[in-house]
Amino acid sequence: MKDFIAVFDSGIGGLTVYNTLKEKFPKENIVYLADSKNCPYGIKTIEEINHLSVNNINYLKNLGAKIIVIACNTATSSVKKEIIESKGQIVGVIEPTANLAYNTSKSKRIGLFATDLTVKTNAYNDYLQDAYVCSEGCSDFVLPIENGDLHSDNMKKLIKNHIDKLNDVDTLILGCTHFPYIKDEINKFIPNVILIESGEATYQVVYKYLLNNNKLSNNENRKLIFMTTGNLENVKQQLIRFNQDFDDIKVAEID
Ligand code: DGL
Repeated sequence: MKDFIAVFDSGIGGLTVYNTLKEKFPKENIVYLADSKNCPYGIKTIEEINHLSVNNINYLKNLGAKIIVIACNTATSSVKKEIIESKGQIVGVIEPTANLAYNTSKSKRIGLFATDLTVKTNAYNDYLQDAYVCSEGCSDFVLPIENGDLHSDNMKKLIKNHIDKLNDVDTLILGCTHFPYIKDEINKFIPNVILIESGEATYQVVYKYLLNNNKLSNNENRKLIFMTTGNLENVKQQLIRFNQDFDDIKVAEID
């Protein structure tokens, strides 16, 4: 398939960005790649994640993607250089999400829930230099979310533990694309804090690139294709659990 938007993440987290793209671009073909074999990303080293991310980007480029959306903060934080050099054809989630948080916050005291690796890279701080940023590594959320464990007592306990470390913020960045799946549970603990997600802000960047480069499509019968580096049957079950319909699902062979 040619003429498509590619989206990738370590697993199903990137669907929180993909869902916005799918809705706002009804005439675009979209390929979603889940690197399920290597999930979770957030507890690996920056070198490992850089390697996996560059492989994913090259794989999707070779398939013919017209734009690649890295719907994963951890991967984005590991490939900053490649993003900058690509002149818009590769979009990460961090810059648009950080800008949205900055413009939303009144007190400029901003919380960040992200994976351990994203926190370690300080990638958000680069875009929030005038703000106080209270960062919390929450990699322990990722696997329960992958398994659909969104509202259990265990999840609530994990959330409370991280919320307790936040220090008087008015805005909280959900700096891992898995986390919007537990935003209702987070919101119950801190109803007055504004939660920031990546979907809409990232869509705006993608839209501008496609418009300015004359690359918007008009497919009457657009296709939605899923690919995974992991077990096809497991991912199929995950997609059903997360209410996704699709035209095809295939294994991606990426070393
Ligand atoms: N969803 C990813 C992110 O936005 C990472 C989750 C993981 O694999 O650790 O950072």
